[in-house]
Amino acid sequence: STPAITRVLTHSHTLKQVSLPWLAPQQTGKSSRRKPLKMPSQSLFNKSIALLFSKRSTRTRVSAETAATLLGGRALFLGRDDIQLGVNESARDTARVIGGMCQGIFARVGDHAEIEELARYSPVPVLNALSSLWHPTQILADLLTLHEHAHLFTSDAPAPETAVEGKGAYKPLPELRPLTITWLGDSTNILHDMLVTYPRFGHKIRVATPAQLAYQCPTPVWDRVKELGCDKDIWWGSDPREAVHGADVVVTDTWISMGQEAEKAQRLKDFQGYQVTEALCKEGGAKSGWKFLHCLPRKPDEVDDEVFYGPRSLVFPEADNRKWTIMAAFDLLFGKWNLHGTEATQ
Ligand code: CP
Ligand code: NVA
Repeated sequence: STPAITRVLTHSHTLKQVSLPWLAPQQTGKSSRRKPLKMPSQSLFNKSIALLFSKRSTRTRVSAETAATLLGGRALFLGRDDIQLGVNESARDTARVIGGMCQGIFARVGDHAEIEELARYSPVPVLNALSSLWHPTQILADLLTLHEHAHLFTSDAPAPETAVEGKGAYKPLPELRPLTITWLGDSTNILHDMLVTYPRFGHKIRVATPAQLAYQCPTPVWDRVKELGCDKDIWWGSDPREAVHGADVVVTDTWISMGQEAEKAQRLKDFQGYQVTEALCKEGGAKSGWKFLHCLPRKPDEVDDEVFYGPRSLVFPEADNRKWTIMAAFDLLFGKWNLHGTEATQ
């Protein structure tokens, strides 16, 4: 829900400052009303979180393992070749057994139905670490990154170094003005979470995907977009130049998601003209200060080196923020808090 997303974002921002105290310079002198920073909550002390990953991962896995450590708990990485799931045992039985031993499941699956099945039968909360349709924790990191860089999108927002007197121990998360966010490429799990999230926070989305049916939004995703009323803030076409018009942020993802390797040759052909470059964004009329996001891993096909490694790129702060947002989600969902903001009874 929207309040849950806001809560995870503000909690991520706090946890990041607690864990990296130099980000929140302490005021000195007797008049200071800011309290000293505390160590991260140890809400996962004596708890174990199962990382049930049937696909590769660098960021999500390392974020989850290091976040669990900072919260005082332990993450168990259970890869495709490690457990009986998918070979000798069903998702239903696996969810029941692992859920009986661990306090949370963070699962990366192939078909989205697999995570629905795990969630149906697990006695503990299941968090999606990526499925064919969705990648919710990625969009939390993207939103946190945009908020942290709010000063780049307006002349009014305070620069991030400005401490706010008397507003509590930590710097508050900067407000973000409504943005135009453009997506170029495939209709992937990353785009799908953008579609159901950004409009709820006041942002407009412009999408260009190749015209073939294979690259259009899957029906269950578009149904959810409409159910949430997000469709009125989404423009969708197949001309990348038209899509970048007025963009504050340009986002893309690989053209060949995990599991689509056999379609590589066809996809490289179909996505010709979709590479994010300075020239394309200039021709299409993106805002002069446009910024770039990418969930990673990245191939040069979808974005050239000039943009990816240049001053417009926020991709590495975005990758770092996977850790703080996943840590906040673990603390809220698996630790001593729940998403409604009240302390759990156990
Ligand atoms: N962005 C992302 O999910 O990266 P990994 O696949 O490396 O976890
Ligand atoms: N769309 C990509 C995202 C990787 C983080 C995939 O599913 O492979």
